[in-house]
Amino acid sequence: MTLYITRRLPEPALSAIPADLVWKMWPESGTPIPRDELLRAVAGVEALVALVSERVDEALLTAAPRLRVVANMAVGVDNIDLAACRARGVIVTNTPDVLTETTADLAWALLLAAARRVVEGQKLIEAGGWGAWHPLFMTGQDVHGATLGVIGAGRIGGAVLRRGAGFGMRLLYHNRRPSAALEAATGAAYRDLDALMAESDHVVVCAPLTAETRGLIGARELALMKPTAVFVNVARGPVIDEAALIAALRAGRPWAAGIDVFEREPITPAHPLLALPNVVATPHVGSATVQTRIAMARLAVANALAVLRGDAPLTPVG
Ligand code: 8YV
Repeated sequence: MTLYITRRLPEPALSAIPADLVWKMWPESGTPIPRDELLRAVAGVEALVALVSERVDEALLTAAPRLRVVANMAVGVDNIDLAACRARGVIVTNTPDVLTETTADLAWALLLAAARRVVEGQKLIEAGGWGAWHPLFMTGQDVHGATLGVIGAGRIGGAVLRRGAGFGMRLLYHNRRPSAALEAATGAAYRDLDALMAESDHVVVCAPLTAETRGLIGARELALMKPTAVFVNVARGPVIDEAALIAALRAGRPWAAGIDVFEREPITPAHPLLALPNVVATPHVGSATVQTRIAMARLAVANALAVLRGDAPLTPVG
């Protein structure tokens, strides 16, 4: 077998696979392949299309000695040991660009929902709690005209900032280094992390999870935020100290949060963030539109096929 796909992908992504290629796919779309089964499945494969639920590490690489490419169906590659792949000459690809705008849309959905108490409002109605009108009934925080701070202003963060212009916002960003190109494209101004946390009315985290960004935002950074601020994370859970975020939200600083990603996923109904009325939570759905998931699946398969043909991959990592 030449190609293994770790999850049932939408049909349009599979039509590009040449008829003479020997390939297999885990038949479930909703259940990940069990680890031991995956290690058996990759034994002779040259190309692997993987999801973030699959850990591509030394053990997997050892189990797949003929592997030439890991095509991740995600822009994040924190499920992959990049150094181990590099050491064995295994190419890693991801799915950038095709999910940029979709993920930026979700960041905005969470920002607006948390700032304007959208989910809390629906729950209140459902619980029969909509009583007499009063001046401060269900009041939230303004988003338009406020200062938006984006941490990790790459492709997705840049798209989040661009949307901010439409809301008349002042734009700030924090990256490892300032970017003149980003500033020219968005009008955003660079701040160090502490200044961004303190100055922003609302903060959106878009930074990839790396050794450098793990735990980037903890109790100290959260305490710098305004008591009226909304905090949004559409990146990866471990970029934030989740226990610190829970404590901070309980204490009312930040004022609210919109969270799509968690330290350990999936979370259960017992997760402490869900008990907080000022939290809007979604189940890691940044890129989850029909159009974008098909585009991601197509791109992941195209990357695998390119390497198998001996061509350059379309979107290599690193
Ligand atoms: C994926 C994501 O849907 O691309 C990423 O890094 O987090 C999402 O777009 C998810 O990782 C499933 O592969």
